Amino acid sequence: MTGILLLLLLPLSACSGVQSALDPGGEAARQIGVLSWVLFIGAAVILAAVVGLTVYAVRAEPRRRRWLAGEAAIVGGGLLLPIAVLTALLVYGLLLTRPAAGPPALRLRVTGEQWWWRVDYLEPDGGTAFATANEIRLPVGQPVELLLDSADVIHSFWVPSLAGKLDMIPGHTNRLRLLAERPGRYRGQCAEYCGGPHGRMAFHVVALAPAEFDLWRQAQVQPAAEPQAEAIRQGRAAFLAAGCGGCHTVRGTAAAGRVAPDLTHVGGRLFIGAGLLPTTPANLAAWIVANQHLKPENQMPEFDLLSGDEVQAIAAYLASLR
Ligand code: CUA
Repeated sequence: MTGILLLLLLPLSACSGVQSALDPGGEAARQIGVLSWVLFIGAAVILAAVVGLTVYAVRAEPRRRRWLAGEAAIVGGGLLLPIAVLTALLVYGLLLTRPAAGPPALRLRVTGEQWWWRVDYLEPDGGTAFATANEIRLPVGQPVELLLDSADVIHSFWVPSLAGKLDMIPGHTNRLRLLAERPGRYRGQCAEYCGGPHGRMAFHVVALAPAEFDLWRQAQVQPAAEPQAEAIRQGRAAFLAAGCGGCHTVRGTAAAGRVAPDLTHVGGRLFIGAGLLPTTPANLAAWIVANQHLKPENQMPEFDLLSGDEVQAIAAYLASLR
């Protein structure tokens, strides 16, 4: 009996954490959370009433339950009550979740790619100030507008703790407003099947205090740091010699590829491989030689012809790009 009870309670453990619509950390998610609870509780009350009436209709004496078959009960309970409840819910839902007014403090373009997220922080004139990937940092308490695009197929952008989900459609820009209300780390996930490793297309949103965010932004605008140690210099040379720059950009070096994530500050990101592995030298090395095992069908080839020393050096170099 206790076992069954524990099993029934198990789903509740998913209600808190970094990726839960029931643990909101942002304005839009809080509104959706309130609406969800109104629906859960309202539906439970109506279910209880219907079950109660059913028992009454079966068990009560015929002369006492006769009113249930009357016109008033059928028109009132079967027609007027649903119309009133659903109309009230519609109006309440629309008012609760209406978009906030006013210009955003910050604008980003997020592009869904098979199977990662390209993130461009935009200048006021629409140009790109700097690019990153699979991670969005934003200031707490300030509205941020995301322009959602796709480079290939339909993806869907969803950070349940911050906002509802919105599709990313090729050739069409959708707009999503995020307002994080408390600092923290929130996980997002592609919510539209987009082929192959769709299930491993995750990202993180990191909400920072505004001053902390400004420091981060100033650092991101800078090109990659010049290596200080000889080992890191060798890692950069190996990175460029292996041809990584054909796909990846590291600003400040000859690497200027546009098809894969910008790595200028990859060492400062939480995860690599679109939310797959924490950014550590060991995981970077594993990704370089065995990414098709870690995330089958992703578009990067495995560089398993590099020597162990070269792989370690490249991983150390990338980890140093903070
Ligand atoms: Cu991208 Cu599913």
